[in-house]
Amino acid sequence: MAMENTTLFVLLLNVLLVFSASLVSAEQQSQASAVGDPGMQRDGLRVAFEAWNFCNEVGQEAPHMGSPRAADCFDLSGSLTHKVTEADNRLGVGDSFPGINPENINNTDLYAIEKELYLGSLCEVADTPRPWQFWMVMLKNGNYDTRSGLCPQDGKKVPPFSPGRFPCFGQGCMNQPILCHQWTQLKDGTMQGGFSGTYDLDSGCGGEQDGVSYYEVVWEKKVNVGSWMFKHKLRTSKKYPWLMLYLRADATKGFSGGYHYDTRGMLKTLPESPNFKVKLSLDIKKGGGGKSQFYLLDIGSCWKNNGAPCDGDVLTDVTRYSEMIINPETPAWCSPKGLANCPPFHITPDNKKFFRNDTANFPYSAYHYYCAPGNAQHLEQPVSTCDPYSNPQAQEIVQLLPHPIWGQYGYPTKKGDGWVGDARTWELDVGGLSSRLYFYQDPGTSPAKRIWTSIDSGTEIFVSDKDEVAEWTLSDFDVILTQSGTNLMNKAERKK
Ligand SMILES: *[C@@H]1O[C@H](CO)[C@@H](O)[C@H](O)[C@H]1NC(C)=O
Ligand SMILES: *[C@@H]1O[C@H](CO)[C@@H](O)[C@H](O)[C@H]1NC(C)=O
Repeated sequence: MAMENTTLFVLLLNVLLVFSASLVSAEQQSQASAVGDPGMQRDGLRVAFEAWNFCNEVGQEAPHMGSPRAADCFDLSGSLTHKVTEADNRLGVGDSFPGINPENINNTDLYAIEKELYLGSLCEVADTPRPWQFWMVMLKNGNYDTRSGLCPQDGKKVPPFSPGRFPCFGQGCMNQPILCHQWTQLKDGTMQGGFSGTYDLDSGCGGEQDGVSYYEVVWEKKVNVGSWMFKHKLRTSKKYPWLMLYLRADATKGFSGGYHYDTRGMLKTLPESPNFKVKLSLDIKKGGGGKSQFYLLDIGSCWKNNGAPCDGDVLTDVTRYSEMIINPETPAWCSPKGLANCPPFHITPDNKKFFRNDTANFPYSAYHYYCAPGNAQHLEQPVSTCDPYSNPQAQEIVQLLPHPIWGQYGYPTKKGDGWVGDARTWELDVGGLSSRLYFYQDPGTSPAKRIWTSIDSGTEIFVSDKDEVAEWTLSDFDVILTQSGTNLMNKAERKK
């Protein structure tokens, strides 16, 4: 009897231990990823589309295309059940839908914001610590018609000015694209769908053609197996020489990088430097020419020059970006003779600081370009300030190139790493690296919390002199919170 009891007790204890251990690991696992769909493995895909003009707004909708926001979201149980309809995706300025603030219904810019929130409500997936909505395909046209007076300068409204600095073929150069949508279908155990189109409004959904701009993102996955593969294509043309195409994990609420309004996305927890890593597989088939600033990774956020978080006031909010450019043809503009293109200092992984005038130690070739916010009051000279028109507010950009000094963070260390013919799965200590990058702050202010609201990969073909094509596949994307990050996040959650 006694023996049986003991055995039973031991058995029970084991069961309890195993049970509690599995609880702990399940909890750790669910907290380890900051994205709703870790590694892009979820069969029930959530993906959306957004197109931006030069200053990250809409301006004017393309004829018969509706507002440039769309989504393809479905659940899979035997067959696909779509959550979004064609009518939802075609919604355009003036059309009502559930939840829209009627004051915004006739304004193309505000309408697109509301449409994104609406599509988010259809795609939303319940989760802890909060629900999430979708991966975001972002397409941007870099043409700027300076005579339109459409884009503010560092957030300030300014009158039209004479052209010259920016590409534009004439009136209408800032147009939104034609959007063609292949709704996701299941066939022989494989799911596939896509968004594609062109900026050339006299063209259609016929696919890629010489001399005509083109974009395409096709997603494909075998049911129950591995990751979604996001296959991208981007083609520039004479009329559209500056195009951007990214796949973004954005914040599920609040301001994502480059926005000044509420967005929807995939980051159910916002990663904070230094406590996170990013995993992704990237297979670049075509680079997109010498001007293709291919971002292995781009991180975006927003904080004010005094370190305070952004609040939507475009005069004092500053978008902050950092990008690792892996096109081996991209030169380092930062050099001993080009100090204005370098950040004021570099910090090594063991926290040594080298000023940019320290020619023996500063790693010039690790930086393509640094530019400071145009609204900063205490900049160290010489300095170059960032383009004041291409964001709704001032911006600061730190662009990196492969270099041995980034090796400790798992980043590319030499030209050609991860480029065409060198497909890789990367595990990048983005948190560690971004905690040591220089970002401007007013003297005497306490350092901003570096919380990232957008993490993405893709290319910016920056004013190509001939038609160029980039082609790449992205998969396995994940943002992993490292242990101390998880703890901090829990504390932050509890305080609310
Ligand atoms: C929007 O436009 C319609 C049609 O012109 C008009 O009836 C409506 O009052 C407008 N709404 C707002 C909020 O301006
Ligand atoms: C280098 O730059 C730092 C920071 O701006 C400055 O304090 C220092 O005097 C400079 N050194 C030389 C040799 O110019």
